Amino acid sequence: MTVARINRISEFEGKTVQLNGWVYNSRRSGKIGFLMFRDGFGIMQCIVAKNDVGEEAFEVFKSLTQESSLSVVGEVVKNDRAPGGFEMVVSELMVHQLSSEYPITPKEHGTDFLMNHRHLWLRSKRQHAILKVRHEIIKAVRDFFDSNDFTLCDSPIFTPNAAEGTSTLFGTDYFGNTAFLAQTGQLYGEAAAMAVGRHYNFGPTFRAEKSKTRRHLTEFWMVEPEIAYCEIDENMNWAERLILFIIERVLENRKNELDVLERDLGKLEHIKAPFPRLSYTECVELLNKGGINFTWGDDFGAPEETFIGEQFNQPVMVHRFPTAIKAFYMKRDPENEKVVLGMDVLAPEGFGEIIGGSERETEINLLEDRIKDEELNQADYEWFLDLRRYGSVPHSGFGMGIERVVAWICNLPHVRETIPFPRTIGRLNP
Ligand code: 4AD
Ligand code: MG
Repeated sequence: MTVARINRISEFEGKTVQLNGWVYNSRRSGKIGFLMFRDGFGIMQCIVAKNDVGEEAFEVFKSLTQESSLSVVGEVVKNDRAPGGFEMVVSELMVHQLSSEYPITPKEHGTDFLMNHRHLWLRSKRQHAILKVRHEIIKAVRDFFDSNDFTLCDSPIFTPNAAEGTSTLFGTDYFGNTAFLAQTGQLYGEAAAMAVGRHYNFGPTFRAEKSKTRRHLTEFWMVEPEIAYCEIDENMNWAERLILFIIERVLENRKNELDVLERDLGKLEHIKAPFPRLSYTECVELLNKGGINFTWGDDFGAPEETFIGEQFNQPVMVHRFPTAIKAFYMKRDPENEKVVLGMDVLAPEGFGEIIGGSERETEINLLEDRIKDEELNQADYEWFLDLRRYGSVPHSGFGMGIERVVAWICNLPHVRETIPFPRTIGRLNP
C-alpha cells in the first residue's frame, strides 16, 4: 500500500492510499464519522461511513480519542468544501495506540499550562505552523549565504571569554577551570572571515538574561555573517538583502501557515528596500520631537525601539551608537570618537531589534584600551588580537536572532512560542 503524506495529497487524487498519523479530533453524525487526521505534514478530513468500513471498524472509530495513533486506508477525493480541498473516504482503520485523556483539549488553556505541556503542545495547528515558518526562515538564511559564496565555519560553544558583556555569562566547570557558554560566535567568526573572506556561523547562543521580557530567551539561535574588506554601509546592505530574501521565501512557500496564524500578509508584502537608515543621534531627535523623553547616551529600550519602528512601517537601520553602550570590538567612527560604527535593525510593528552588528575595530591599540576599560582579561583575547597583528583589514558583520525574526514574521507577542523548547529565566522544563 502506498503511504501518502497530506502535504502532497493532491498527487493521489482518485487513488487508494494509506496515511499514518494521529487523531486531531473527531465527531460523528449518525452513521458517518468525521475524523480530522493529522500526519505531521498536514491535517485532512477523513470520512468514516459505517456502510463502507463495516460495523466492527465503526466501533473502533467510535473508541478513538484525541491524539490516538492510527493508520487509515482510503480513496483520496477532491472536495472543494473540505479544508485543503481533499478528503479521504476511509475503507480501513488500524489503531496503534489509544491515547488516554490527552491533556490539551480544544478548550482554552493558560499559557503556563501549555508551556508545561510544550512537548505535546507542538502538535497543535498553530504551533505546527510556527515550526514550519521557523524552518523556512532558517533554510532561507542558509540558502542566502550559501549562494553568495559565504563559508559556514562553526564556532565553539565552550569559550574562555566574554564578547557581549560579562553580566550575562553562563559559567560551567571545565575540568577545574571555568568555561563560558558562547554569547556569540563573532570573535571566532572574525578569525574565520580572515581565512575564507565571507563567513557565517549559525548556532545556539546563551545569555543569562535576568529580565523577564517577551523578547529575551537564555538560549537562542543566532546567525552571524562576517565579511573581510567590508565597511559599515556594505554591512547594512547585506542585512537588508538578507531580510528581503527571507520575507520573499516565506511568502513564496508558507502562505498557508501564515494564514493559520492569521498573519496580515500585506504588512510583509509591503517590506521594500531601501530601508530607512538613521544615526542614533537622529533617532534621539526623532524621539524627543515625538514627545518621548530620552537622553543622548542611554540605550534604547522596548518603548523607544517600538516608537522608531512605527514611524516608518519598514525595518529601520540605526547606526553610530554611543561608544559607552556598545561592545569593545566595535570600530570607533573616525569622524566622531564619541560613537562607534555599530548598526541595529529594528523590525516594524513593535518587534524591536532583530539584528545587531558593526564594523570592527582594526587598530590593536584601541582594542587593547577597550579591553582594559571593560575590565576584561587581555590574556584571554590574545588570539583575537593576533587577527590585528597579521593582516588586519576592514571587516564587518552582524548577528540576527532567529527567534526575534520568527516572532515578527509570525506576529507572535512573545518569543517563547518561536522555538520548540524555550529556555527562559523561569523555565528549564520540558
Ligand atoms: O546585538 P547582539 O548582542 O549582537 C551580537 O551578539 C554580535 N556579536 C553579533 C555580531 O555582530 N556578530 O545580538 C544579536 C541579535 C539581536 O539583535 C537579537 O536579535 C538576538 O541576537 N538576541 C536575542 N534573542 C533572543 N533572546 C536574547 N536574550 C537575545 N539577545 C540577543
Ligand atoms: Mg544588540
